[in-house]
Amino acid sequence: MLADRQILLIIGGGIAAYKSLDLIRRLRERGAGVVPVLTRAGQEFVTPLTVSALAGRKVFQDLFDLTDEAEMGHIELSRAADLVVVAPATADLMAKMAGGHANDLASTLLMATDKRVLIAPAMNVRMWDHPATQRNLATLRGDGILIVGPDEGVMACGEFGPGRMAEVPQIIAAIEGALSAGPLAGRHVLVTSGPTHEPIDPVRYIANRSSGAQGTAIAAALRDLGARVSFVTGPASVPPPAGVEVVRVETAAEMLKAVEAALPADAAVFAAAVADWRVSNAAGQKMKKDGAGGLPALEFAENPDILATVSRMSEGRPKLVVGFAAETHDVERHATEKRARKGCDWIVANDVSPGTGIMGGTENAVTLITAEGPEAWPRLSKDETARRLAARIASALG
Ligand code: C5P
Repeated sequence: MLADRQILLIIGGGIAAYKSLDLIRRLRERGAGVVPVLTRAGQEFVTPLTVSALAGRKVFQDLFDLTDEAEMGHIELSRAADLVVVAPATADLMAKMAGGHANDLASTLLMATDKRVLIAPAMNVRMWDHPATQRNLATLRGDGILIVGPDEGVMACGEFGPGRMAEVPQIIAAIEGALSAGPLAGRHVLVTSGPTHEPIDPVRYIANRSSGAQGTAIAAALRDLGARVSFVTGPASVPPPAGVEVVRVETAAEMLKAVEAALPADAAVFAAAVADWRVSNAAGQKMKKDGAGGLPALEFAENPDILATVSRMSEGRPKLVVGFAAETHDVERHATEKRARKGCDWIVANDVSPGTGIMGGTENAVTLITAEGPEAWPRLSKDETARRLAARIASALG
């Protein structure tokens, strides 16, 4: 898929720049051409010589290099590529992009390009969490910039949290996703997945058996068709797919907030197994088994119905809203009723009665309920079910 594709790679100034050297190698191994651009700050971390040796060509460094201007103007440079990748994208580069600056080669290329831009942010956790960076991130998302990472973990500066640049395989997957100009290119799709955890006290919670496998497969299939995918996931047992924007949540209330923050979207698929109730008298401290008053009495409150909330939005409702229904009997009738009750466009219904082996298994047998009625699909792997659903979504969005 990457063979003969041209990637314009802008290397910003951050310790993660060393990973970009490996990124160049891996891209070239796959047959892609890499046109490297090294910012002034980037040169503090990796040398132009190393970058050009790995890329097998000249590295571009300065906007006002007249020879370069004569050979290949920055406009041409920014458009000859199939994709522009910024890795690492520093807080400063993101701010420049969000503000529309064009005062050096990298920022000018980013302003002048007519190609998709993928950024791999990398910075100190405080810098990432700073409202200015988060504001810039939201602006860039709104501008259609693709974002991969950052990951969470121990950082070079010794602090812990989100800010580490995504690993090379994850960036490659995102590049492949961006280059597959599939039918969903330019579309934004939101997917919820996994279970929710509802706290009883700081150490205990109520959960369910959802693995997140089907939601994860759907997110990956949508990505493969070229969509930008926001993936809002509860604590699932399968890892989220590469090349999607992952938002991790625990409770239903957090999931609703994350969904609202990720909108607008062209389509939304609610595959999460959201807890219907939360514990309204959750304790702030660990409950003691020998506490006064004997056994604790849990009280419950109803959780927000995320699917119904989004389906009934008067403004900014995704064009296509897809819900799931896990039923153990009378699947078609219950799912048809659910579609009407929730106000969504489609329901993907499945029979999760114990004999089917579907819950927690690798296969699924679904009935798709649309305005035209039910449509039974054959028993397929969850990946194949996801691919079919993604293809249907693509044709519905037109
Ligand atoms: O009502 P029920 O839980 O069976 O509905 C299942 C569908 O509704 C799924 O798509 C699920 O993701 C969604 N849902 C939700 N918020 C809830 C409960 C369910 O989005 N609180």
